[in-house]
Amino acid sequence: MAVETGRQEKEIVVEVNGRQQRRAVEPRLLLSDFLRHELGLTGTHVGCEHGVCGACTVLMDGQAVRSCLIFAVQAHQRSLTTVEGLEAPAGRQLHPLQEAFREKHGLQCGFCTPGILMTLVPFLQENPRPAKEEIRRLLSGHLCRCTGYLKIVEAVQEYVAGSGREARSGDGA
Ligand code: FES
Ligand code: FES
Repeated sequence: MAVETGRQEKEIVVEVNGRQQRRAVEPRLLLSDFLRHELGLTGTHVGCEHGVCGACTVLMDGQAVRSCLIFAVQAHQRSLTTVEGLEAPAGRQLHPLQEAFREKHGLQCGFCTPGILMTLVPFLQENPRPAKEEIRRLLSGHLCRCTGYLKIVEAVQEYVAGSGREARSGDGA
């Protein structure tokens, strides 16, 4: 019986971290593999590849999604942000949330940190003053083998307190 061996590729155009990318990809290519292997954006980590651990989380049109559950072709004409695209304010090297993680040792081994950050960014935009329980509930969607959720929660609280200070000083208070 004849076996089909030809590669079937589709062309996709996708905006990644503000830059338009045009690539021919196989329909079965996962978005996580596209980001890591085709674009070299290895900040997006792959743990379970089953949508459970959260390490592969990126933003698609501003919403947190698990890139291991999405095919690259589904990102056609979408806008993506990976951890490499987190914008730091002028004069800083890190996003304030990253600074808070560094300050409070929320980084730990760092493997799941990018996914956690990419989940937190849109969450904190919508909930600028989350309660501790809300932060914990959000983090329950991320499996961290360092088991150090305490420091991550403290980092988020540090960020929330810091953004409050910045908003007040920005008001001229
Ligand atoms: S690698 Fe995607 S959720 Fe675990
Ligand atoms: S920071 Fe190490 S596994 Fe989560």
